[in-house]
Amino acid sequence: MGGGIAQVAAAAGDEVLLHDVNQQFIDRGLRTIEKNLARSVEKGRLTEEQRGNIIARIDARPKWEDFDVEFAVEAASENVEVKLDLFRRMDTDTPPTAILASNTSSISITRIGAVTSRPAQVIGMHFFNPVPVMKLVELIRGLATSQPTFDAAHALAIRYGKVPVAANDFPGFISNRILCPMLNEAVFALYEGVGTVESIDAVMKLGMNHPMGPFELADFVGLDTLLAIMEVLYEGYGDSKYRACPLLRNYVAAGWVGRKAGRGFYDWSSGTMQPASPPNGAVHAAGAAR
Ligand code: 3HC
Repeated sequence: MGGGIAQVAAAAGDEVLLHDVNQQFIDRGLRTIEKNLARSVEKGRLTEEQRGNIIARIDARPKWEDFDVEFAVEAASENVEVKLDLFRRMDTDTPPTAILASNTSSISITRIGAVTSRPAQVIGMHFFNPVPVMKLVELIRGLATSQPTFDAAHALAIRYGKVPVAANDFPGFISNRILCPMLNEAVFALYEGVGTVESIDAVMKLGMNHPMGPFELADFVGLDTLLAIMEVLYEGYGDSKYRACPLLRNYVAAGWVGRKAGRGFYDWSSGTMQPASPPNGAVHAAGAAR
């Protein structure tokens, strides 16, 4: 998602410093950006010159350093310790006036802000995948987030061509409090043999007009991310309705975390979505939908 955020920022005219601990992830992000922009040139939405200018505005920085930025957006994995550590370092290594935003899917902005010396300048700025396409940016104020910080993030989202929607700082905010239990419920339906991966996806696509069925979407989001969000909901609300399905846990334990791993509820190893062979121990009601 960091690459997608860098792309929309650079396309809006901002100079971007793109940092990741791993050069491979930087390279992958840059390749995706290049591919997306090349497609826009092909479709006549960008000139070759504009494409070159957008790329030139993205400066990849594989080493942690003093980042001289006005606005930082963290998009690390959905792990609270990783995020707290990053925010402590961002607090030390960016100018004191900089706003620090997190693209967290579910973790408390109040908690993240509290490890910095500037909680008034910390905000949740939650983008959606694929970032260049999806219109929404959920803006989450922590308890201490100031109005000028909110206004700056709001203005930035609009400049990036997005529609900002405000949410309060409770686990999962609005989006993932609703989306993730639905995806988890689909996994329970599979686990209990109500339907197959394909039939459950077909029901939600054809019956509810969702662009992707819950299993395709879960594979797209990453089953590790989905599980991490369910854990935040379960812990944050202390309510059993948010318990993760044991089958989801097993997929994550197997490393079958979705599209990025080549295997999730579908087989992505060929680069396209294909039915996966049913794993041991899952109830797959073969033929239930026929
Ligand atoms: N990156 C950039 N652009 C992409 C893309 C990608 N990964 N995937 C598709 N696109 C672009 C295509 O280039 C195309 O653009 P064009 O019309 O200008 O040529 C446009 O999107 C439509 O693509 P397609 O015609 O190939 O395919 P679809 O019509 O099926 O749309 C989709 C693809 C937009 C991804 C659609 O399937 C969709 O909306 N899926 C649901 C996505 C969703 O729910 N995202 C939210 C996930 S939850 C989240 O991110 C929050 C986190 O906290 C969990």
